[in-house]
Amino acid sequence: MPKIAVIGAGTMGHGIAELFAIAGYEVHLVDVAEDFVRRGIQNIEWSLKKLAEKGQIKEDPAAVLSRVKPFVNDVCGAVGGVELMVEAVVEDIEVKKRVFAEADRCAPPEAVLATNTSSLPITEIAEAVRPDRRPKVVGMHFFNPPVLMPLVEIVKGKYTNDETVKKIAEYAAKLGKQTVVVNKDVPGFIVNRILARVNEAACWMVARGEATIQEVDSALIYKAGLPMGAFILMDFTGIDVVCFIGDAMLRRGFKSHPCPLIVEKCQQKKFGVKSGEGFYKYPAPGKFQWPEVPKSAGDRIDVSYLLAPAVNEAAYLLREGVATKEDIDKAVKLGLNWPKGPLELADEIGIDTVVKTLEEWRQKTGFEEYEPDPLLREIVASGKLGKKTGEGFYTYVKAEEKKLETLIVRYEPGIAWIILNRPERLNAISPKMVEELWKVLDEIEQLDYDKVRVVIITGTGRAFSAGADVTAFMGATPITIFKTSRKLQMLFERIESLDRPVICGLNGYTLGGGLELAMSCDFRIAAETAELGQPEINLGFIPGAGGTQRLPRLIGRDKAKELIFTGDRIPAREAERLGLVNKAVPADKLEQELRSFANKLAEKPPLALAMAKYAINFGLEAPQWAGMMLEAAQFGILFSTEDVIEGVSSFLNKTRPRFKGR
Ligand code: COA
Repeated sequence: MPKIAVIGAGTMGHGIAELFAIAGYEVHLVDVAEDFVRRGIQNIEWSLKKLAEKGQIKEDPAAVLSRVKPFVNDVCGAVGGVELMVEAVVEDIEVKKRVFAEADRCAPPEAVLATNTSSLPITEIAEAVRPDRRPKVVGMHFFNPPVLMPLVEIVKGKYTNDETVKKIAEYAAKLGKQTVVVNKDVPGFIVNRILARVNEAACWMVARGEATIQEVDSALIYKAGLPMGAFILMDFTGIDVVCFIGDAMLRRGFKSHPCPLIVEKCQQKKFGVKSGEGFYKYPAPGKFQWPEVPKSAGDRIDVSYLLAPAVNEAAYLLREGVATKEDIDKAVKLGLNWPKGPLELADEIGIDTVVKTLEEWRQKTGFEEYEPDPLLREIVASGKLGKKTGEGFYTYVKAEEKKLETLIVRYEPGIAWIILNRPERLNAISPKMVEELWKVLDEIEQLDYDKVRVVIITGTGRAFSAGADVTAFMGATPITIFKTSRKLQMLFERIESLDRPVICGLNGYTLGGGLELAMSCDFRIAAETAELGQPEINLGFIPGAGGTQRLPRLIGRDKAKELIFTGDRIPAREAERLGLVNKAVPADKLEQELRSFANKLAEKPPLALAMAKYAINFGLEAPQWAGMMLEAAQFGILFSTEDVIEGVSSFLNKTRPRFKGR
């Protein structure tokens, strides 16, 4: 049986030992006192039982456990005859050097000596062994808890050779782990550096009075899609650990300004879940319960502001050759369970926006770590702004744009933009525009879901649309006006029955027919500067493209009458309060908000979105029993799709589903 040694039986050590035992190795588990070794083995026993209950190990737990051999205070004895040592003792360089020196003396000459350190330099540790062994000293950094977390960072010191890296990758594969290679032992490697940037940004935003803890966490969870908010995660990990790693990184030259809120918690010994209180309060020490973080709390927080410092760090790692872009993103996705890596997120946010946001951080705080990395500036200067230009850190299918007489149609990956383009007429809806909108909607519905999953309608210039083009009304007969009205109504019904979500981005005046168009969309996001209204009454007539019907359904009969009878325009914020728009955002953030919401919807199963849209739009108009029948039928239909299989199996396997719209 192949043998390995694990030095240190604590949180990380016992987990690493357990993994190797499951993989069939004889594991020599060492700690300084009998008590510590015994506790480590008890923890392994408990964990193996859990895994067996869930059917995640095939072997009998007792058989696995029998491969773990205890060693008390005897590194030399434990490394005898092993092919690998993994050290996981306290994060104290002197202690680690002693372990390595002793292991070097007693282990077979071909044995690889690895450290699980998260904060200390591999190069310095390697210098504790004889020069000819140094190429075999390497970082093998697991994440807590090792049994569950899928990632191992393989960290090269100055002396580590490629063969050693390859060997560690093979061991990790045998343990069922995925790996990334960290080419230089910079403090914090990849994952802890990126995490530190998000924690600091979150904390400084609160410390500077720009947001509350709940607002920041809510934005990170619900807008960025992270599994936990920064503050919840620090509570969960232990704020003492955050302080410890932060201090260690700072001492080794990681540019940062420890945030007073975190430092304070450490001084007050409010470490988070383990002590019953950290940034949030918990029912009892050691008892985790999700703190209350409402989804709406993060509404006004700009997540790119929270994420830009992490992108900056990722750019630094890439420019310095610490890791490849793929490995940086992979490390963050697997180590922190983010839905996307920081460089992928940068491409979505727009690299120009990231740079602008960092400049804002730099100016507000004066901190040098927020100075945009030269790599980011270089990419922006070369016109590669991310997904929107078809290239950023990664290359995307290029956006295609075509100009019709009254519209611009842009196809970005997953998103079709229909841009009303008669700015000199405030995008008034002319007969030509109606004709072109019909054609484009038909064209989009013909396209595969691989190409377009979400449609965004917005406008150029000062208006989304100031309404139907009144010049077309001059000299018309009542019957032609009736037909015009019906035509617009049917166009808007076409939007309601389009088989994919339509988001309207209200960039300015949204009046009359413009508001009627917007109300037929599934969602409305407005620039704060937009004004909305049904001003027809001022011209002597009434809304004729659904305004008298959709407006009362959206905001209630009496409020609708108020708007239609007075013809008054209301600002976007008030429209948000009334429920007429889903959300009002600063004008310069509108495009980004539209894109990020569209990207979020684009990851959902397209057929299920279509069915949900139909059930809601058509069911709402029917008697409830008929709506229920429709819902049941749509629900049933979805069980003929591949996406349901993908969704359910991904849930059970704890992986991210990739829906295809089939
Ligand atoms: N149909 C045709 N043309 C329109 C229009 C519409 N619905 N709305 C605006 N325009 C034209 C204006 O006539 C003007 O054209 P011009 O430069 O040839 O004079 C141009 O767009 C710019 O509008 P203007 O009125 O000069 O801008 P403003 O900033 O002073 O006012 C509004 C903006 C939106 C308040 C004003 O244009 C307005 O009230 N429009 C009509 C809104 C309406 O009643 N819609 C319902 C129609 S069913």
